[in-house]
Amino acid sequence: MLDKSEYLHPDKECLSREEIEALQLKRLKETVKHCYDNNEFYKKKFEELGITPDDIKTLADVCKLPFTTKQDLRDHYPFGLACVPLEKCTRLHSSSGTTGNPTVILHSQKDIDEWANAVARCLHMVGLRPGDVFQNSSGYGMFTGGLGFQNGAERLGMLTVPAAAGNSLRQIKFIRDFGTTAIHAVPSYLTRLKEVMDQEGVDPRRDTKLKVFAIGAEPHSEEQRKRIEDMFGVKAYNSFGMSEMCGPGVGFECKEQNGLHFWEDYYIVEIVDPVTLEPVPDGEIGELILTTINREAMPLLRYRTRDLTRVLGRTCPCGRNHVRIDRMKGRSDDMMVLKGVNIFPIQIEKILMQFKELASNYLITLTTDDDNDNMTVEVEIEDLFTDDYQRLQKLQKDVTRALKDEILLTPRVKLVPKGSLPTSDGKAVRVVDKRKVYQ
Ligand code: COA
Ligand code: AMP
Ligand code: ZN
Repeated sequence: MLDKSEYLHPDKECLSREEIEALQLKRLKETVKHCYDNNEFYKKKFEELGITPDDIKTLADVCKLPFTTKQDLRDHYPFGLACVPLEKCTRLHSSSGTTGNPTVILHSQKDIDEWANAVARCLHMVGLRPGDVFQNSSGYGMFTGGLGFQNGAERLGMLTVPAAAGNSLRQIKFIRDFGTTAIHAVPSYLTRLKEVMDQEGVDPRRDTKLKVFAIGAEPHSEEQRKRIEDMFGVKAYNSFGMSEMCGPGVGFECKEQNGLHFWEDYYIVEIVDPVTLEPVPDGEIGELILTTINREAMPLLRYRTRDLTRVLGRTCPCGRNHVRIDRMKGRSDDMMVLKGVNIFPIQIEKILMQFKELASNYLITLTTDDDNDNMTVEVEIEDLFTDDYQRLQKLQKDVTRALKDEILLTPRVKLVPKGSLPTSDGKAVRVVDKRKVYQ
């Protein structure tokens, strides 16, 4: 017999598979009609495929629908995928990690409320309750981990500390003074936080009330999770989200820690072969495709996340039958996630090419040094400047600044003589990731 107090939304969390699928079909039909009736982009795509909303009769018919991509969002920047008039929207978020136009996601007040409900459900699932103190070390502003966790933690009724990113000494002071019991952080930052705790003589087991971490927004391995849990004596639960799907609250581990439950009353989850785009069987790795079925302002049909993962199962000892998805295994594109920030190599290339003093060969290396994740950008310089030290120093500063403006974090920039970086006969190697974030 299930203990109902374990679930924030028992009517949704404890549905049988049949009930989940019936609800999904109902919501899918509504979403598809909403897109078709209210958005030119989708209407045109449907016409090209020769389908109408009436063709969606079963859940399996989802595969008749067109895919939507990041490029589609950029091509219809800023509001071309809206399905409601702008007056109905109360928030927008835009994601980093694109060149040219960013991607924009619009939300109605209902969308914001439903998003908060989803995040609250995740936090409740791992034992957090009113009376807990929740500290959020996400960047705020456009990073959806900021307001996303803020609203969800408030919805659950926790005392919420919007500490935001950076300043580890202040984070530690808040943790101690406010009796923080739970933190949301990107995993790489928690190892930095522990380093500063050690320097300050703070023992998390002795000096804090920490009991739960929500870790996500960047790939990490099971080993990293275990290491974090051991360092702090705190349970760390994997949290998956993406701006296009609202942000956090898409998938979250339950106390079993056996994969992330993706909330199927909000999303239809498909895993497809990234090349053929055909479905792969459960257990096989492919690209995660998500369709929003509970969104008003800007639903997305069959969104290609580019994240690679697999279905682990559709039942769980926790009593939830929402699909269990494995931790992310890689990407089907070249996006890197560093310090919770998305970066494409092309963004870096675009900036480097703006400096006429720089040659065209460059190498991006991602490392973990003393528990800090870092990016080093080595770039060759035109011979002309090699013996002018002051000019080189200024150039190095200017390049660093310009890169920080573009990618939102500070890389180490090394200017190196022309011809010193490796070249290959075929495609040049531009990125070396030594962090081992995917396992
Ligand atoms: N979250 C929180 N704090 C972080 C962080 C992260 N992901 N990465 C680094 N920091 C801390 C650093 O530890 C440092 O503080 P400290 O020296 O007091 O310990 C401070 O932020 C600056 O770090 P640094 O690496 O020197 O700065 P940067 O110029 O490279 O930029 C951030 C780093 C933190 C500003 C940027 O990476 C950021 O905003 N990250 C947050 C992204 C996020 O919230 N993603 C969630 C999306 S849902
Ligand atoms: P953003 O849109 O900025 O929130 O970034 C979303 C992307 O971050 C996803 O598509 C993933 O590549 C990555 N990401 C988010 N959460 C996780 C997680 N828990 N594990 C691995 N990657 C994640
Ligand atoms: Zn479970």
